Amino acid sequence: MAQRIAIAGGTGTVGRLVVEIARAHGHDAVVISRSTGVDLVSGDGLDTVLAGVDTVIDVSNTSSMSATASVRHFETTTRTLLDAETRVGVRHHIVLSIVGIDDEKGYGYYQGKRAQERAVAAGRVAYTILRATQFHEFAQQMFERMKFGPFVLVPTMRSQPIAAREVAARLVELAEGAPAGRVTDIAGPRVERMAELARRYGRAAGLPGRVVELSLPGAPGRQMRDGSLLAGTAAEVRGPSYAQWLVEQTGSDGEVKAPRGVGIGGIPIVRGPLPTPPEPSLSNARELVAQLRTAGMPIALTVTGVERPLPAAIDEAAFRALQEAVALVLTHTRGADATATVRYLVHAVEVEVAHGPGRRTSSADQSAELRRSRTEVRRLGGVVSSETTADGGLRIVAAIPTPQ
Ligand SMILES: NC(=O)c1ccc[n+]([C@@H]2O[C@H](COP(=O)([O-])OP(=O)(O)OC[C@H]3O[C@@H](n4cnc5c(N)ncnc54)[C@H](OP(=O)(O)O)[C@@H]3O)[C@@H](O)[C@H]2O)c1
Repeated sequence: MAQRIAIAGGTGTVGRLVVEIARAHGHDAVVISRSTGVDLVSGDGLDTVLAGVDTVIDVSNTSSMSATASVRHFETTTRTLLDAETRVGVRHHIVLSIVGIDDEKGYGYYQGKRAQERAVAAGRVAYTILRATQFHEFAQQMFERMKFGPFVLVPTMRSQPIAAREVAARLVELAEGAPAGRVTDIAGPRVERMAELARRYGRAAGLPGRVVELSLPGAPGRQMRDGSLLAGTAAEVRGPSYAQWLVEQTGSDGEVKAPRGVGIGGIPIVRGPLPTPPEPSLSNARELVAQLRTAGMPIALTVTGVERPLPAAIDEAAFRALQEAVALVLTHTRGADATATVRYLVHAVEVEVAHGPGRRTSSADQSAELRRSRTEVRRLGGVVSSETTADGGLRIVAAIPTPQ
């Protein structure tokens, strides 16, 4: 039976497809978003837009990735929505969440999503919670949101992506049924590596930008790498595969082998599969730099002092600091040479990454990147410093004390 459905976030990646499918099913679809005049943080105008609405599908989002900001956003917007729904008599609240987000030490944004689920379950409106894996469109979102200079930074992440259209269709089906609490998760047909998907997307869509895969430190990084975000065997699987979807979107599956070319800043474009990043140990610094050089990045490595095995936590933290500093410095480089130095000192290990004059990009994002290393290095009694050199270059140094 046709109903009036409000789609919070109805202009977003999945939201606009929900609106399209709901309308195709004969429902009256109302869009809620800041660009259509309603901000879910303040709630101004919400009662008016919800008048006569039977079901709300919440697919709104935040760009905040930190736990605090994400929890605050999702708790506030959910409470605002549910309060207004209670006032106007909405019968069914549906929210889209994400598969595999249960680790409470996991990625900050996922903590916000868990807070959103809790708020919905504790609310007074009958609800349905659907968890989906990352969308096929996620790779495209990386190109839009994680591009720094000539590089697109993508976390090392195993995912079982699904077309947003399939998720949208499932959400409309759920709206047509009764509130069902947490329902079966939904996922795509294949396990994929996110950096590879981003790379194929860029190639298929003809976008400039080199995908650099970054292994995030700590529990959030592990959660992305270790398969926690994959759907279990009980999940409902809906096609198309990423390759089929990409062909539908762009006419290419992104696998086309092309000769080497020259990209932004004179950095050669290298085709072919991405190498797997080495295990996070400083003894793999050479391998990391060799991979980056193979990918066309202008960086050289020097190791000084006597290499020795390090305690596991120090070894991993030093490698991650090196990896993040390299990624940051390379985002500034635009073709200028970068140098990485690993120093095995008597009482410490030090990694330094620097490059000559280049063009700096967003400083907010740079410090956010470094914050990840800084926390871990500090926990081990070390320091991370970054400075702009006199000639406009950037130097990052991480030093961690080592036991005698
Ligand atoms: N992307 C994925 O791979 C994926 C996978 C599984 C689940 N999900 C979940 O699906 C949901 C939608 O994700 P998406 O990638 O489609 O999001 P998106 O493309 O970032 O779209 C976000 C939508 O929310 C609206 N919005 C943001 N802040 C708002 C505010 N304060 N008030 C009102 N509207 C606001 C935006 O419109 P305005 O900017 O005009 O306000 C937009 O319509 C998210 O909750 C996400 O966690 C995403």
